[in-house]
Amino acid sequence: MLPKSVKIVEVGPRDGLQNEPKLVPTDAKIKLVEQLADAGCSVIETGSFVSPKWVPQMADSADVFQKINRQNRVCYTALTPNLRGLQQAITARVDEVAVFGSASEAFSQKNINCSISESLERFIPVMELAQQHQLPVRGYVSCVLGCPYEGNVSPQKVTEVSKQLLDMGCYEISLGDTIGVGTPIKTLHMLEAVLNEIPVEKLAVHFHDTYGQALVNILVALQQGISVVDSAVSGLGGCPYAKGASGNVATEDLVYMLDGMNIKTGINLKKLTEAGLNMMQVLGRQSNSKVACALTA
Ligand code: HMG
Ligand code: MG
Repeated sequence: MLPKSVKIVEVGPRDGLQNEPKLVPTDAKIKLVEQLADAGCSVIETGSFVSPKWVPQMADSADVFQKINRQNRVCYTALTPNLRGLQQAITARVDEVAVFGSASEAFSQKNINCSISESLERFIPVMELAQQHQLPVRGYVSCVLGCPYEGNVSPQKVTEVSKQLLDMGCYEISLGDTIGVGTPIKTLHMLEAVLNEIPVEKLAVHFHDTYGQALVNILVALQQGISVVDSAVSGLGGCPYAKGASGNVATEDLVYMLDGMNIKTGINLKKLTEAGLNMMQVLGRQSNSKVACALTA
């Protein structure tokens, strides 16, 4: 039942850094992306074409895309909430883009300033233009296990929004536990509801580790046959519109777990750890990755 290999979507340069209050120099972002590629990451969410007023840390995404040394086997991706963002992403020669919706009305308003149905409407022209440029579009659904404003979120709502994004043309849905509140049985029930309607190959999981539940929830997802997992090197990050939300599960911890289960990732743990530690030096604090701490103790 467990997958033989897992595709890790490294979201550190985007989800990780977007929440940093102090501006991270563009050069440090570029170095991080290049080191992640050297470590074997095959998908790197490199930036975000959103309003710089909303997320100042991502204002230099075009610059990052322009200056990185690209490797052919790596897919460099970015978030594009609207047509304007997509146009910028196309100019920046992004390999793949992502739209991001929510299973919670209140979070949708706080994060992208519109209702769930308005967001889906907004994505239609984004999908059309992306198709014209043969750009694959990923769809994120936030708050799949709880919302910072509304509390409980029903698995039915998660399923409904995921289906709408797939019907629009997203090739994959990443189910986001934005505030990291999920626990294993809750995760299982949510996934069972979604898997009733959506084939497993279309799903990815995206767990923030706020309450230390991410790895165990990922195991539940793997047992359900999901083989695409998002994570951030050093456990960087959090969503600026989800107060108290800490970073994603650390990629080092995820790779260590998968290595130990003989599940292939293509990522070199030592090089990955170095990439994370370099960024932590720039940020001036300790890594959130237990594995990185253990390896450097
Ligand atoms: P809005 O205010 O509703 O829309 O923003 P607007 O079209 O009226 O634009 C407002 C201002 O932004 C205007 O500037 C626009 O020109 C500008 P002004 O006239 O005030 O000077 N603008 C842009 N600038 C650059 N690039 C653009 C762009 N679009 C508009 N693409 C909008 C709507 C969605 C743009 C805004 O709400 C926004 O940027 N939100 C950012 C949300 C965000 O980035 N959140 C974090 C990422 S999502 C996440 O972390 C969750 C995830 O990890 C999964 C999980 O964990 O659950 C993916
Ligand atoms: Mg996230």
